[in-house]
Amino acid sequence: MGPALYKSMFKKQISHKAAQFTESVIREMTRLAMEHKAINLSQGYPDFAAPEVLKKAAADAIFADINQYAITWGAKSFRDALAYKTKRFLGIEIDPEREVTVSCGSTEGMIDALMAVINPGDEVIVFEPFYENYGPDAIICGAKPRYVQLRQPDWCFDEAELGAAFNNNTKAIILNTPNNPTGKVFSRDELEVIARLCQKWDALAITDEIYEHIIYDGAVHVSPITLDGMRERTIVVNGMSKTYSVTGWRVGYIIAPPGITGAIRKMHDFMTVGAPAPLQEAGAVALRLPDSYYAELAEHYRIRRDRLLAMLRHAGFDPFVPRGAYYVMCDVRPFRDRWGFADDVEFCRFLVQEIGVATVPGSSFFSEPAAGKDLIRFTFCKKEETLAAAEERLVRLRGRIANVRARS
Ligand SMILES: Cc1ncc(COP(=O)(O)O)c(C=O)c1O
Repeated sequence: MGPALYKSMFKKQISHKAAQFTESVIREMTRLAMEHKAINLSQGYPDFAAPEVLKKAAADAIFADINQYAITWGAKSFRDALAYKTKRFLGIEIDPEREVTVSCGSTEGMIDALMAVINPGDEVIVFEPFYENYGPDAIICGAKPRYVQLRQPDWCFDEAELGAAFNNNTKAIILNTPNNPTGKVFSRDELEVIARLCQKWDALAITDEIYEHIIYDGAVHVSPITLDGMRERTIVVNGMSKTYSVTGWRVGYIIAPPGITGAIRKMHDFMTVGAPAPLQEAGAVALRLPDSYYAELAEHYRIRRDRLLAMLRHAGFDPFVPRGAYYVMCDVRPFRDRWGFADDVEFCRFLVQEIGVATVPGSSFFSEPAAGKDLIRFTFCKKEETLAAAEERLVRLRGRIANVRARS
């Protein structure tokens, strides 16, 4: 079959929605990293062990034969533990019977939430740079995304620009704090501006708080659900992946007002039936870990953040210092301008192929790829050995570029 015929058949077979987005760039970088035996500082999953207590709790649950479907919206033990943790950290009471849905990771949670509230013609506001799922999420759920810029160097938004993005069609704003990829932690004042706009325009705040415990330098995580007038218009999407270093368990959750939770639970039920039952039991143990666990987690990542920042500066990068999450965005203009790389994608390919370090091109975090052409993202959720191996390669960067450029 010729390529033209193949292309036209293919076009007929797939949906308009599927045709509107490409494979995840981050997962593609992980594949390239494997192909070139590169150190993978692209995808945000820890390469160190998960907490012993959780692994034991998961194994115990399997041996206790908790191996069949849990209640579709989540095991009672998990929902009760979540209510306990939410009271402890956010200071609010949530009803585990009517306001919680347990999902297959926060990834499913975000889609469930959008599916539950979006109607044709609805718009959602998304800050950019954004976590790359939000674009496809909006398309899958039939929402029209409206992008508002977070501006360097502090990744602040312009109040007037945000205000102008709200209108009568605005159904929700998607917020991610602490933020991937920028490391921004939205301040209470900023969140109050957003809260006022949500109330003015009768919009929802859908907040992805997956990095809530990974914060540095005295930053404080404020959940919009705790702000005046926001309890009944906030949907919190969160999960175990990052806080407990178990990204492969696929256990997430959604906290929403009872009416919305009813709709979310239906979406969740017919999409996945439920999250893994034994891992929800282990999750119930995780959610009751003492405060010291979270303090140690933040310190563990602060050490790695500072390590990565130092080695990036040494290699000639100009990194933005994150206050939360476990990514560092870098301005690559010093390399681009001097050595003539066309854009972030070409620079990332060079890094993975010639230096052996995989990163993510900044353009994948923007609706208009050109807006991210000066940026790349590194992650530091890695073991010391992994960071040390990356350092060994990155110190050779300038010399290697000079060599390769001299030959071409
Ligand atoms: C902002 C953000 N939300 C959600 C996820 C995915 O979380 P989960 O593993 O719970 O699906 C990630 C993973 O990198 C993320 O960075």
